[in-house]
Amino acid sequence: MAKERKRIAVIPGDGIGNDVVREGVKLLETLKEVRGYPYELTHYDLGAERYLRDGTTFPEEVAAAIRDDHDAVLLGALGDPRVPDMSHARDILFGLRFGLDLYCNLRPVQCLSDRLMPLKGRTAKDCDFVVFRENTEGIYTGIGGQFKKGTPDEVAIQESINTRKGVERIIRAAFEYAVAHGRKTVHLADKSNAMRHGHELWYRCFFEVAEEYSGIEAKHVYVDALCFYLIEDPRPFEVIVTCNLFGDIITDLGAAFQGGLGMASSANLRPGEVSMFEPVHGSAPPLAGKDVANPLATVLTVGMLLTHLGYTDEEPRLIELVRRAVDEGKCTKDVGGDLGTRAVGDWICAQVRAS
Ligand code: NAD
Ligand code: IPM
Ligand code: MN
Repeated sequence: MAKERKRIAVIPGDGIGNDVVREGVKLLETLKEVRGYPYELTHYDLGAERYLRDGTTFPEEVAAAIRDDHDAVLLGALGDPRVPDMSHARDILFGLRFGLDLYCNLRPVQCLSDRLMPLKGRTAKDCDFVVFRENTEGIYTGIGGQFKKGTPDEVAIQESINTRKGVERIIRAAFEYAVAHGRKTVHLADKSNAMRHGHELWYRCFFEVAEEYSGIEAKHVYVDALCFYLIEDPRPFEVIVTCNLFGDIITDLGAAFQGGLGMASSANLRPGEVSMFEPVHGSAPPLAGKDVANPLATVLTVGMLLTHLGYTDEEPRLIELVRRAVDEGKCTKDVGGDLGTRAVGDWICAQVRAS
């Protein structure tokens, strides 16, 4: 896979999405030049600015071009206070996640430096787990409606969709990952005590799939208790599989173990097919355009993207570079440095050239 020409679609989106994706692109261009990788970048002007200018959100021809002619998408973030209903953001973000059936949202929660570990008595090595977030179903599908809106009798219904196919494939992905990466345990985090239809399916499916992976210990934890256990001691957790909504929440909590949202990366995968890569953080409107956003989550995200393209040596190298950036203070203020977004990106690229 790594040899042929590849195409990467780039969508910076809104707010600091622009600041961090600029650094991600700089890194991709530097790696292309230094290592001779044969990939091409296609830049798409999509986001709140474009929506406010001409009403465009996520045109069918762009969706088709990404699906048919690209291997990966690098996305910044979406969300702008000038579009309070987030309609453009949902069209683009869910257009990619649902449109490409990117069922596996892989979010690593690895603390890279003792300095970033916020838990008393713990060090960086105590936090190293991955979250497999189901990415195409659950409460996110938009199924439901409002009735008698704005009246005292109003009703709002938001359905949660859990299909056997959807639940099984993400659980299987979590076990496969554990096998491939020498992890010993997979935890299912659910609310099968309260959500006795949808999450009973998750619970049953989890232990059925686990039967096929005799070398891996399958454990169940309720998601509320998981939040408690994680803060108390993250060490027992290696691989966590969970639904769309809980995965969203657990990974922001996890970002706090990593030094903040500026350090958390993610991949939206359909293995072997075009997949999308984005930092976990949002568009952080108050930071936008000020050269203060931390680009390291995007550097780690570029590492995940390159692994997907088959350039598997790059991700471990980029993780090490990010670790050094933090340890040597070549980082932004949120992680204890005094550099701007651009200067951090320049430092990363300079290290790539020097290596
Ligand atoms: P946020 O992630 O944008 O910000 C939360 C906190 O983290 C803020 O204090 C922010 O300053 C800080 N932060 C985030 N990224 C940072 C970075 N790279 N460097 C330094 N600090 C960083 O979350 P929010 O404020 O809840 O949301 C803002 C907008 O982003 C909303 O419209 C939301 O819907 C959207 N959002 C989009 C995505 C996405 O596109 N995938 C993800 C999350 C939130
Ligand atoms: C994320 C974000 C999105 C989500 C929002 C912007 C819809 O929080 O990617 O983590 O909930 O999936
Ligand atoms: Mn989120």
